[in-house]
Amino acid sequence: MIADVVLGLQHGDEAKGKITHQLCSKGNYTHVIRFNGGCNAGHTIYHEGKKFVTHHIPAGVFYGIPSIIGPGCVVDPDQFFKEIAELEAAGIEAEFLVSIAKNAHVITDLHKEEDGEDSKIGTTKRGNGPAYRDKYDRKGLRAEDMPCFEDYLVDIYEELYAEPNVEVLFEGAQGFGLDIDHGDYPFVTSSHCTTASALLNGVPPQAIRNVWGVAKIYETYVGAKSFQPEGEVFNALQMVGEEFGATTGRKRQCNWMNLNSLMKAVRINGVTDLVFNKMDVLEEIGEWKFYNNNNLVHFDGEEQIKRFLTSHVSNSPTVSNVYFSGNKDRI
Ligand code: IMP
Ligand code: MG
Repeated sequence: MIADVVLGLQHGDEAKGKITHQLCSKGNYTHVIRFNGGCNAGHTIYHEGKKFVTHHIPAGVFYGIPSIIGPGCVVDPDQFFKEIAELEAAGIEAEFLVSIAKNAHVITDLHKEEDGEDSKIGTTKRGNGPAYRDKYDRKGLRAEDMPCFEDYLVDIYEELYAEPNVEVLFEGAQGFGLDIDHGDYPFVTSSHCTTASALLNGVPPQAIRNVWGVAKIYETYVGAKSFQPEGEVFNALQMVGEEFGATTGRKRQCNWMNLNSLMKAVRINGVTDLVFNKMDVLEEIGEWKFYNNNNLVHFDGEEQIKRFLTSHVSNSPTVSNVYFSGNKDRI
């Protein structure tokens, strides 16, 4: 078995959907599996010139690859069926391609009501936290308990171990800075957003081949804590970068990238392929900066920042490739 992983290195919204979509178009994947989170995620994907926003459904469906909502996820039936219908209406064979691990947990109406009252964390109000709480409290409902999911259920073991030559692409949601253990608790999500989290869905560690760590060349965060410093440039980043939440439409707070936090995420996840997205936004802003060792470092332009980052990252024992992207639909 071979498994590649796509995950976020910052606070979500690093454009992981774009990377998954591109990998699906080229790879020989037999399965794409979402490994964590629920419909708090919003993955923006440009497919054949059309914009799609998926919350639950993995990006494999755009290339006819069987796509599974893994056992590490929580699923809201309303949102799930809504998304299937939207994709079908756009000519994507989602109904045929998508399945749900029978041991994935269910987000109920009560979970959504309870999360709807959150004001402390600034959640997406999609019932994510309460659903995971009930899972760990052993009070949760599983997908297999829901008649509406009957036609979609799979057993991960039967699915991945019955045949040889299985190649899985794991699609992560959120990012390292929102990880329940490694993020800035309590301003985190309720799931794990790491390579280890992908493994929890039922594949052996030996299967891991490439880990695609996705970052933006600046940072954004959505939630209750204060993240954006004073300064007009951050409003400019927000506007030029079109930094609005794909799930809630909230403005994302912006800041310069923190290289130390990034390298921590690279190491802990064993990133092999590192992508810096949204280079075009800094180009348009005309300022090239990031934090390194608590200093704000200034660069003359794109070439200088690329050279610094490529050489800095080459000291990492796991990273083999560094990519810079200034394009919405490909690296
Ligand atoms: P929850 O995951 O809805 O409980 O929200 C917890 C925190 O994670 C909040 O700060 C959310 O804004 C943030 N969050 C959850 N999912 C995403 C995402 O897909 N992108 C960005 N932030 C997210
Ligand atoms: Mg998003």
